[in-house]
Amino acid sequence: MKKFKYSEITSEKIYNNRRKFIKTLSVGFGSICFSNYSNANIDLSKITSFKDITTYNNYYEFGTGKSDPYIKSQNFKTKPWSIRIEGEVEKPLEISVEEILSLFSSEERILKLRCVEGWSMIIPWNGFSLSQIISKVSLTSKAKFVEFESIYDPNQMSGQRYPVLNWPYKEGLRIDEAMHPLTTVVTGLYNKKLPNQNGAPLRIFMPWKYGFKSAKAIVKIKFVEKIPTSSWMWASPREYGFYSNVNPNVNHPRWSQATERAIGNDIFAPRIKTEMFNGYGDQVAHLYSGMDLKKYY
Ligand code: MTE
Repeated sequence: MKKFKYSEITSEKIYNNRRKFIKTLSVGFGSICFSNYSNANIDLSKITSFKDITTYNNYYEFGTGKSDPYIKSQNFKTKPWSIRIEGEVEKPLEISVEEILSLFSSEERILKLRCVEGWSMIIPWNGFSLSQIISKVSLTSKAKFVEFESIYDPNQMSGQRYPVLNWPYKEGLRIDEAMHPLTTVVTGLYNKKLPNQNGAPLRIFMPWKYGFKSAKAIVKIKFVEKIPTSSWMWASPREYGFYSNVNPNVNHPRWSQATERAIGNDIFAPRIKTEMFNGYGDQVAHLYSGMDLKKYY
């Protein structure tokens, strides 16, 4: 099969915008600061095993069972892959994963994932701050929120043949949340290529929010004026709000959020106390000052 060059399959306008985008990116490169993203509260001896991180997953596109994503995603095609950046930006563009990986250097970020279901993992991700991408696109004054869209491909993702959620999977953030340095574009874990079941080729991760906010296999980043409706808000607005910050004081309507089970621990091990903002309050609490987090759950 003939291999097309990117320029051949992209409209000229998009291609040129992409070139300009890449040019802007090259300026001032080399000044990326590497910081230690390990949470001070994290006991590094408690990092979840590679096996647990990659075999106990939520990825409804591949089924609702915890082992479905591992079993059913192995042949999922993540190449070629590009991401569209659109909406309230001066110039929409499409950029390939290879280009993203070559433009932004990933670092190790050991961050905790707290799932809304009441379990947690400590994951040595590799990635970089989403703000690095956002600060390179010119947003219009109407860009107040950002929406992430995961891939829609029912031929490859059997879960999408069932209306469990309104596919494609969508999530969103307020712009200041998206610009926060902890909001990570994940490119790998355990210094390995990101496994398909964890959201290859690229997924988002915010450690202070319940895991479902962190969309996998994203194909679109769209800047919008109005608060977006995520797939989970659409499925059950009473249970899943837009903010979804980890909050032990606000119960899910069907269960408590006060404690969690660390995956990998013995099933009879005592549950651990869930911390406000999953332990990242020092870094993120200011984003919500003055907000009633019971109302804005
Ligand atoms: N992204 C997509 N596209 N589809 C999903 O079903 N599940 C979410 C989130 N991102 C999900 C998703 C949920 S509920 C959680 S807890 C995390 O992914 C799980 O991430 P992990 O499997 O890498 O631990």
